[in-house]
This record gives sequence, structure tokens and C-alpha cells, in this order.
Amino acid sequence: MARVPAPVTVITTMVDGVPIGTTVSAFASLSIAPPMAFLALDNRGGMIGRVRDAGRIGINILAAGQEEIAIRFARRDLPDRFAGLAWHDDHGLPRIDGAVAWLRCEQLQLLPGGDHTVILAHVDDAATAGDHSLGYHLRTFRDVGPAT
Ligand SMILES: Cc1cc2nc3c(=O)[nH]c(=O)nc-3n(C[C@H](O)[C@H](O)[C@H](O)COP(=O)(O)O)c2cc1C
Repeated sequence: MARVPAPVTVITTMVDGVPIGTTVSAFASLSIAPPMAFLALDNRGGMIGRVRDAGRIGINILAAGQEEIAIRFARRDLPDRFAGLAWHDDHGLPRIDGAVAWLRCEQLQLLPGGDHTVILAHVDDAATAGDHSLGYHLRTFRDVGPAT
């Protein structure tokens, strides 16, 4: 699977006013009408239970250069992954500044997927900023953007 070029996103939600988030590469566009996205969360992590409870998520598609954010949102030893990070509240969901795209998803379908849970997310709002996305391939972060 390391040979599959992957996007790098941070999935976020809010729990009692506290922002939480997790780095996720298992993400893809799913449907245009209605607009939907696909992602998968590990059942052994803490995020899936919070997403199940909240019923809504933000999807931050990271920009090239945001490797540090990808790593910090995968760390298990950080009590507050948002500490010192530039982000803001977007309709009650944590939106990371500088991300190349943002999806606000208000309705989720959760399906079993082995040791992961597949989430089919209805996209209620979308925004883009820039063309250079962060990619992940052969366990290395890459700048994925138009050729210069
Ligand atoms: C580049 C990268 C991609 C990742 N992709 C996923 C993913 O698709 N799904 C997932 O559940 N975890 C993924 N992880 C691992 C989680 O971010 C990590 O296990 C995290 O500590 C889980 O946090 P949680 O306990 O808040 O769920 C990825 C980590 C990295 C660095």
C-alpha cells in the first residue's frame, strides 16, 4: 500500500467546544450528485468514537509544506494536537489555516470495513486555496502540484 499515492487530510470535529483531529490518508472523492466523500478511520484509534458521537466532520486537505501538521495529528503522545496551530471555527468545526481545501460534512454514514470504519460523508460546503497539495508515497511526503 506504500506504493499507492495518497492524499493527506486532517479530519476534525468538536467535542464540548474542544477541537480534535486525526491525520487520514484513506480519503477520496465519492459522488458529485449528491456531493460525497469517502474516508476510513481505524477502530483502534480514539477518533472514530468521537466522530460517531458528533455526527459531523471537517475535512482539511493539507497543502504542500504542511508535513508538520500531518505528523502532529498522528501523534499519540500529544494531549492537544491543536496547541500553537493556526486554525479557526467554521460552523462549529475546526478548520486548519493554510489547508489547500476544506470540506464541511454534516451527514455521515458509517459502515464496517474490517478493522476500520468506512465513512460516507455528505459535503455541505467546500472551499479551495491554492493548487499544491500534500501527498504521501513510499512513506514520504510530497509536493503534488502543477508542473512549473
Ligand atoms: C500520513 C498518515 C496517514 C494516515 N492515515 C490514516 C487513515 O487513513 N486512517 C486512520 O485511521 N489513521 C491514519 N493514520 C494514523 C492516525 O493518524 C494515528 O494512528 C493517530 O494517532 C490516530 O489518532 P486517534 O487516536 O485520534 O484516532 C495516518 C497517519 C499518517 C502519518
